Amino acid sequence: MNIKEPSINKEQQDILDGLISNQKTINPKYFYDHRGSKLFERITQLDEYYPTRTELTILNDYAQDIAQLFEPDSLIVEPGAGNCTKIEYLLEAVRPSIYVPQDVSEEFLQKSAQRLSGRYPWLKVHPIISDFSDPIELPENYQKFAKHVFYPGSTIGNFEPEDAVIFLKQMHKLVGSRGGMLLGVDLHKDNEILHAAYNDEKGITAEFNLNTLNHINQILEAGIDINQFEHHALYNSKQQRIEMYLRSKSLQQYTILGNTITFESGELIHTEHSYKYTLDGIAELAQKSGFTLQKSWLDEEELFSVSYLSA
Ligand code: SAH
Ligand code: AVI
Repeated sequence: MNIKEPSINKEQQDILDGLISNQKTINPKYFYDHRGSKLFERITQLDEYYPTRTELTILNDYAQDIAQLFEPDSLIVEPGAGNCTKIEYLLEAVRPSIYVPQDVSEEFLQKSAQRLSGRYPWLKVHPIISDFSDPIELPENYQKFAKHVFYPGSTIGNFEPEDAVIFLKQMHKLVGSRGGMLLGVDLHKDNEILHAAYNDEKGITAEFNLNTLNHINQILEAGIDINQFEHHALYNSKQQRIEMYLRSKSLQQYTILGNTITFESGELIHTEHSYKYTLDGIAELAQKSGFTLQKSWLDEEELFSVSYLSA
């Protein structure tokens, strides 16, 4: 009798490759199924998680100043747009014609885009569901608009620095010579503030981190026991990054799509890096990818930055 091997699609294979490598790893995009997107929203409201409220203060305080750098009637692309809240702080000042939010979290993005369309009838909202590491496909009739990329939230910090440059080069190509990029980046700061932001008391970041196992369980049709893992996040001051892991609480073994995967007791699965930058570091990223850092806006405590990179 022939035993049929289960057929494995590319997404399943990518996740499996991460789970069979020496340092087990899961791409941070797998945080964001619908539940993960909701949990991230709850993180943004936590006392300890300063980035979101700080960036919103900057956008609110400097919207008019920022708008000077955007051509009117332009097109704004926002990779990883999530709940599409931050763009609302700029819409009245910038008055773009088209807004293209992009995300992997399909249902969450569609709902966010619908809400925005309802609130701003003068704005064309064109959501795109795709991975922001892939080149974005814009309709042919959008090519005539001056293009800007809005990339807030320090999502750039979730790339390794060399991959951040690859991503920014792709954005440079997208906007062409007329456009630019508005980039929100978290800054170096006291270790304790950083540690608390990723180890909140209510345990929402822990839930968000663990939810990635729920998400991959669905994709891989696996039965990984979430209760046998715990959240682990630390600030690596040498590398200037938060490192997030899931730690196995016991020796565990699973057969996933024909592969035997063993988790030793105490073994770590890497789930996220969140790099923190200086303004010089942001200028260097910009310069390496063809942009020029034109202007940065900071909050009073200099926790977070919003920078305009011209192409
Ligand atoms: N821009 C929002 C959300 C940031 S959270 C803010 O600043 O608050 C990161 C967002 O990026 C999530 O909405 C997540 O679904 C999305 N995301 C993460 N990895 C992605 C990828 N590879 N491709 C597209 N979207 C991604
Ligand atoms: C989306 N990204 C920038 C967040 C961050 O801070 O790195 C994701 C996150 N991870 C834990 N808390 C928030």
